[in-house]
Amino acid sequence: MDTINAHPMDGFPVRPLRFALSDQKRDFVWSRTNPRFALFFNAFVLHVPYFEHYLVKSMRAAMPHVDDPQLLRDMRAIVGQEANHAKVFVEYYASMKQHYPKVPALCDYNDRYYTKKAKTDTLKQLVGYTAGYETFTFLAGAIILQNYNKWLVDSDPTIKAMFVWHQVEEVEHGAVAFEVYQKLFGDCEWYRRWMIVVTVTHMVRETYKAYTHMARVEGWMSNPVKAVKSLASCTGLLLRFVWHALPVLRKGYHPRKHPLVTRQQNPIQIAWRRYEKAGGDVLEIDRAKMAEIMKLAPESIAA
Ligand SMILES: [Fe+2]
Ligand SMILES: [Fe+2]
Repeated sequence: MDTINAHPMDGFPVRPLRFALSDQKRDFVWSRTNPRFALFFNAFVLHVPYFEHYLVKSMRAAMPHVDDPQLLRDMRAIVGQEANHAKVFVEYYASMKQHYPKVPALCDYNDRYYTKKAKTDTLKQLVGYTAGYETFTFLAGAIILQNYNKWLVDSDPTIKAMFVWHQVEEVEHGAVAFEVYQKLFGDCEWYRRWMIVVTVTHMVRETYKAYTHMARVEGWMSNPVKAVKSLASCTGLLLRFVWHALPVLRKGYHPRKHPLVTRQQNPIQIAWRRYEKAGGDVLEIDRAKMAEIMKLAPESIAA
C-alpha cells in the first residue's frame, strides 16, 4: 500500500525546507487570485513564529511525562516541524518589515508575550494552550488547501510554496498537542475548551491589528467603501475558521476524525507529500510545477 495515501497524521516526517524569502522588493499582496486573502494570511501568521517557539518549549517540557513511544516520536517530529516553520516565518517577516512600518513592533510584542508566557506557565497551561492553538492551525491548514483554486492558484511561486508546505505539515501534526493534553490532563475537558476560546481571542486580536495596518499601507482603507470591504473580507475569513472549529468543542472530538483530514482529505496535500518524498523540488510552485505535482496537464490547473 502507498503510505502517502494513509492517514496524513501517521508517521509524519520533518522537512527542513528553506525558501528564497529575503527579497525586500517582493509584492506582499502575493496572491493575484485573491489579494485580500494574501493580506489576511500575512496578518494572521504574523505572531505564529512566536507561538511556534512556545509550542517547542511546551512539548519539550511535556516529554518527560509521556511514556508512549509512538506519541514521543510524534512529539519530536512536531518540535522539528515547528522549529523549521518559525525559522522560515521569521525570515519572511524580516523582508516585510521595510514595507509595513508597524510590523517590527507587532512582532516584538508577540515575541515578548510568548517568551514570558513560556517561562511562567505551568505544565498544564503550556500543554493546554498549545492544544487549543493547534486546533486552529490544523484547521487553517486543511481549509486553505481545500480552497487552493480560490485563494492561491495565481500567486508568487515562493510564497505559495511556503504556505503549501506549512499547511500540509500543520495538518500532519494537528493531533499531537491534543493527544499530549489527553494523556496528561484528559480528565479536564473544560480547560481544553477554555484554551480554545483563549487562543482564538489572541489570534483574532493580533490578526485585526496587523491586517488594519497592512490594509492602510496598501491604500485599502483610503475611503469608507474600500475600508468596509477590506474589513468584511478579514472578518469573513476569520468566521470561516471559527465555524469549522465548532466540532472541536464536542465531547469525544479527536483531530484525526475531523472530516477535513479523512473524508475530504485534500488531493493537493496527498500529491505534494508524495512528490516531496520522492525528492521533488517544492521550493517554488508555479502553475506548471503544480501540474507536475498533481500529475496533470498544465492547462487543467485553473488559471
Ligand atoms: Fe507551524
Ligand atoms: Fe502546528
